[in-house]
Amino acid sequence: MCGIVGIVGSDAVAERLVDALKRLEYRGYDSAGVATLRNGVLDRRRAEGKLVNLARRLAETPLMGSTGIAHTRWATHGAPTETNAHPHFADGIAIVHNGIIENFAEIKQELAAEGVLFQTQTDTEVAGQLLAKFIRQGLAPREAMQAMLRRVTGAYALAVIFKDLPETIMAARNGPPLAIGHGQGEMYLGSDAIALAPFTNEITYLADGDWAVLTPHGVEIFDIEGRALARPRTTSMAAAFRVDKGNHRHFMEKEIHEQPEVISHALSAYIDFIENKVSPAATAIDFSRVPSLAISACGTAYLAGLIGKYWFERYARLPVEADVASEFRYRNIPLPKEAAAFFISQSGETADTLASLRYCRENGLAIGAVVNARESTIARESDAIFPILAGPEIGVASTKAFTCQLTVLAAMAIGAGRMRGTVSETEEQALVRHLVEMPRLMAGVLKSVQPQVEGLARDLSRCRDVLYLGRGTSFPLAMEGALKLKEISYIHAEGYAAGELKHGPIALIDENMPVIVIAPFDRFFEKTVSNMQEAAARGGRIVLITDTKGAAACGDLQTMATILLPDVDELIQPMIFSLPIQLLAYHTAVFMGTDVDQPRNLAKSVTVE
Ligand code: F6R
Repeated sequence: MCGIVGIVGSDAVAERLVDALKRLEYRGYDSAGVATLRNGVLDRRRAEGKLVNLARRLAETPLMGSTGIAHTRWATHGAPTETNAHPHFADGIAIVHNGIIENFAEIKQELAAEGVLFQTQTDTEVAGQLLAKFIRQGLAPREAMQAMLRRVTGAYALAVIFKDLPETIMAARNGPPLAIGHGQGEMYLGSDAIALAPFTNEITYLADGDWAVLTPHGVEIFDIEGRALARPRTTSMAAAFRVDKGNHRHFMEKEIHEQPEVISHALSAYIDFIENKVSPAATAIDFSRVPSLAISACGTAYLAGLIGKYWFERYARLPVEADVASEFRYRNIPLPKEAAAFFISQSGETADTLASLRYCRENGLAIGAVVNARESTIARESDAIFPILAGPEIGVASTKAFTCQLTVLAAMAIGAGRMRGTVSETEEQALVRHLVEMPRLMAGVLKSVQPQVEGLARDLSRCRDVLYLGRGTSFPLAMEGALKLKEISYIHAEGYAAGELKHGPIALIDENMPVIVIAPFDRFFEKTVSNMQEAAARGGRIVLITDTKGAAACGDLQTMATILLPDVDELIQPMIFSLPIQLLAYHTAVFMGTDVDQPRNLAKSVTVE
């Protein structure tokens, strides 16, 4: 989940490498570094912490050199110190790496026994030292690279420059993504096409097991046996996206407020507004024949999948197996060959989700990818792509991608229902009309709840623990609320099915515990309110998120706050009720003064398991 970039060109590259790293900082921000080659000399600058520290260091002591590689780190092996920051040097070699070299301990032991001295605790340095050893043994750089790749196991996207090989970068991929950019008299590499967007939109993606040699004049790609490969060159859409905060303090705030707009983009792709039907894009997989669905994803994307499960079961009467990808991939689930499997991922690169996809592929299932990054590995390995059209999401905490994932899943569930005869044409039209209402309703809610949420966030920022409760689709939403709060404010939070309250968590409730109850006026309302009363009776400070009908039905119930939303159909409640939940987490984190867009220990794209 680190980010890597490289440029082989004719002018000094360090500044542009740092610029490209800025667009990869979402992948990790524990440390950063850059190395360049100039007149047979490798030099580097590294700094602990965020990229600004590296930029400062480079301003003090600039790096020249027209061939360079750079890295922003999310620490796996070794503390996030400057010593462990990439690029690592090993006897005439500089290397950057994203991933985990799984057999590094064994190789390190062997090399240490041969007298190699290690400077760092990283697995990456081991790969560099192994490569250096092969060069010392007399192998040419290409042969040495191939020999090193044969020996290492695990997940890697890596790039290497050699002291004695001017104007050349070698790169390899096994797992984490690697994009090669084609320029005029320059070549680039990066963990994604967005990093390269200011330089080029002509991209070749390496496939797993590929390695490549870049010079200013082009790229050669090989397999592990050294056989030349032809990989397609595509025109990336990445350059089309503006990636700045606009007038907002944080990307997260901007992305929350973008939701009415991006949801309308998603609707345009999945809804036929004239007929009030879902468009064929929502049914790119033939749901009429599948006996069941499997949904697998991580974190927020998984919670979107859980809500999707409720919809597919309700509208399409399809049994759904939904699980976090890190469990799904190892559970050895017996899945019928005729089933379909969906993988939900903003980045399209999450290692566990990708592994689950490959498990389903091996088992012969039809594969659908619900992704934001259309050029991602998960998208490319799927039979059908369902883009969520959220635009780049930079804030580490997912917001607009979540509601766009929900929008697409809702359209798919309705489409599946139509195909399977469980949703009539009239029902489809009614459901679609509700979906179409979302952008307008969302814009209204974002305005109306803001002042109240800010006040409430001040109270929450003084709390140690928070409990979220909900039933039906509000249960995954309760978990999403808790996830959002804990990841950016560092306040401990749990999301529970309201009906589970008395099976354990009720013991936590006292007068210091805010209990956020997500209770739209739906089929479960009365039951949720009973659970809320149980919490209130034990001193819990209730924050009720409900709609007009729900508030009226609650009468004079005392709450710490009631956030009032419009009455909407059950189908779109999760999208509308997401908004106060996101805003509450955001403003609480702002009060606490945390790093909202780049919370500690996290990274946006998790390409290791
Ligand atoms: C939380 C969050 C994460 C991601 C998860 C999956 O706000 O963003 O939980 O949802 O890491 O990432 P993707 O969707 O890229 O597979």
